[in-house]
This record gives sequence, C-alpha cells and structure tokens, in this order.
Amino acid sequence: MSVPLRFDGKVVLITGAGGGLGREYALAFGERGASVVVNDLGGDIKGDGNSSSAADKVVEEIKAKGGNAVANYDSVENGDKLVQTALDAFGRIDIVINNAGILRDRTFGRTSDLDWDLIHRVHLKGSFLVTRAAWNHMKNQKYGRIIMTSSAAGIYGNFGQGNYSAAKMGLVGLSNTLALEGRKYHIHCNTIAPTAGSRLTQTVMPPDLLESLKAEYVAPLVLWLCHDQCQETGGLFEAGAGWIGKLRWERTQGSIVRHKNQAMTPEGVQEKWDQICDFTNANKPATIGESLGTLVEVLSQVDTEDKGIAPNPTSAMASVT
Ligand code: NAI
Repeated sequence: MSVPLRFDGKVVLITGAGGGLGREYALAFGERGASVVVNDLGGDIKGDGNSSSAADKVVEEIKAKGGNAVANYDSVENGDKLVQTALDAFGRIDIVINNAGILRDRTFGRTSDLDWDLIHRVHLKGSFLVTRAAWNHMKNQKYGRIIMTSSAAGIYGNFGQGNYSAAKMGLVGLSNTLALEGRKYHIHCNTIAPTAGSRLTQTVMPPDLLESLKAEYVAPLVLWLCHDQCQETGGLFEAGAGWIGKLRWERTQGSIVRHKNQAMTPEGVQEKWDQICDFTNANKPATIGESLGTLVEVLSQVDTEDKGIAPNPTSAMASVT
C-alpha cells in the first residue's frame, strides 16, 4: 500500500467550490488535512444572482468531518479578496484551484457581447485575477500549486459554445506560460479538462450518464497534481469516469514550400498540401524553442539549395525535434 497523500499545513483556495466538481475537491482536500477556502458566489448557471449558502454548506460539511475550512462569497473577478480570505484565516496560500464557471451557450451568430464578456470575465479573467493575487505569495515562499480548468469543448470545439471554448483554451495558454515562469520558484501549474455530472452538464447529458460520471472521479487527479511529491507542470489532462489521460501537441513533418530566389506561391502550398497534412512520423514539439528551431533549420536548408544541395524537409524537421 502506498503512503496516503496528505496536505497537513497546506492552504488551498478552491473557486466555485459550493457545488459540483469544486465541492468534491474541497471535501477531498479537507479530509486530507488541508485548510480550505471554499469560494462560491452562489449564483445561477448563467452567472446571475448570488448567495452565501452554497459555500457555507460545504464549509459545514468539511468541519463536520473534522476538517478546517472558511467560506468566501466573492466573485472570482475580485481575485484579491479571495486570496485575502486565505491569508486572514490561515496566514498563507499554497494551492489555487481555478474551478468557478458558468455557461452562456449560443450558436456563434447569436452570441451577444454580454455572452462573450461574462464567460471570459469568469473563466479566463477570473482565473488570471485569483492566480495573480496568489502568485507573489507563492514566489516568496518558493512553493505553489495551481490548477486551471479547461474543457473538452475548448480542446475539440463544441457546437454552441464558441465563447466558452475560447475562454477554456485561453486557460491552456495561460497555464503553459505560468508553468515556465513558476518553475524556478517550485510553482507548478497544470490544466484539467474534466467531465462530470453537475448542474452545468445536466442540460447536455442524459440523466443516467449525469448520475454515472461522478465528480468524485475527477478529484484524485487534482489532489495528486497539487501534492508536494508530484513534479508535473505544464500538463493538460482529460479526466472523467475514473479515467485520466494526458494530452500533447503533434505536428506533421511538414514540407518546405519555398525555393531560394523564387516567389513562394499558393499553388506551391496546394502542391505540397498532402505532405503538409501527413501525420506519418509526426513530431511532438513541447517548447517554443523547438518551434523556432525548425524555422531556423528551414532557413538554412533553403539557403543551401543555391549551393546545389536539394532541400530535404524530412531530415530538417527530424534534426530539430
Ligand atoms: P457547477 O455549476 O456545479 O460549479 C461551478 C460553481 O462555480 C458554482 O457553484 C457557481 O456558483 C460557481 N461560480 C460561478 N461563477 C462564479 C464566480 N464568478 N465566482 C465564484 N464562483 C462562481 O459546475 P461544474 O460542472 O462543477 O464545473 C466546474 C468547472 O469545471 C467549471 O469551470 C466548468 O466550466 C468546468 N468543466 C466542467 C465540466 C463537466 O463535465 N462538469 C466539463 C468541462 C469543464
């Protein structure tokens, strides 16, 4: 048996923890010794209204099991206030789980400015503001764990969710950069794309699936990613039904379409299209350096054409990835 993963002495802030996935995370952290800030605005699925009861109930549940928790009822748009609650109650902040979310589904042509802005304000800007408020505390203590919550709708697209998809994919980009900037301070940032039955998914899932895909099947991934022993950072994970998988980018070997001293043309792109899109022996670039490295290699390949050496894009790509 492995040693139980504990969070004694750690302070975790979970946004939108009054229900659904966030509540499961809060209960799980509370059971394993963390001091928990249960944030929830207590509004409806579209972001209207507010109430303290959602967060209060979860705090009571944690306390009833002998855990340590306080409530915060601010919107994630007031990131500073959420982090201040952690500092006031427990004196530090170690872990931030950006989980709060709403939906305003519309087909693209019917998406209003408000539908777009509210989704971005809660998901993307809210995660930015809460995380930024915690960032310097984490830097100073040279320790932090951050989770961003994306969605399969962002990764793959989903009909009627243009606003939500865009915000959710924005969080992947933010997480990638925070992982880089946080590394030397031992601040890890990972992104999850969960699937679970909740009030957000009850309109899109049949009742039996809603019931089967339990939020408690996602919480163990979040706890592991936030534990001292986990060295993962900059990762993107899909989780649901008790299954967890990791995602990464894949890029074709591609094709050099340009020739030295010749104009590059759309017809040249058309000619090479199959090769550009052929994923045989695809690369898996993981850094911006690898991306730029490919281009530098191509510049040199095209340049050598003049000296009678034919370009070989396949070896060019292989040599830099
Ligand atoms: P949920 O609706 O049960 O929980 C979201 C919570 O966030 C609610 O309690 C709500 O009051 C709170 N909230 C909303 N706006 C807030 C704000 N401005 N400030 C503070 N709290 C706020 O939904 P669920 O399913 O648990 O979703 C949690 C996260 O997981 C969301 O970010 C959602 O987009 C994401 N997600 C969920 C999926 C699922 O299958 N349930 C699929 C993909 C992503």
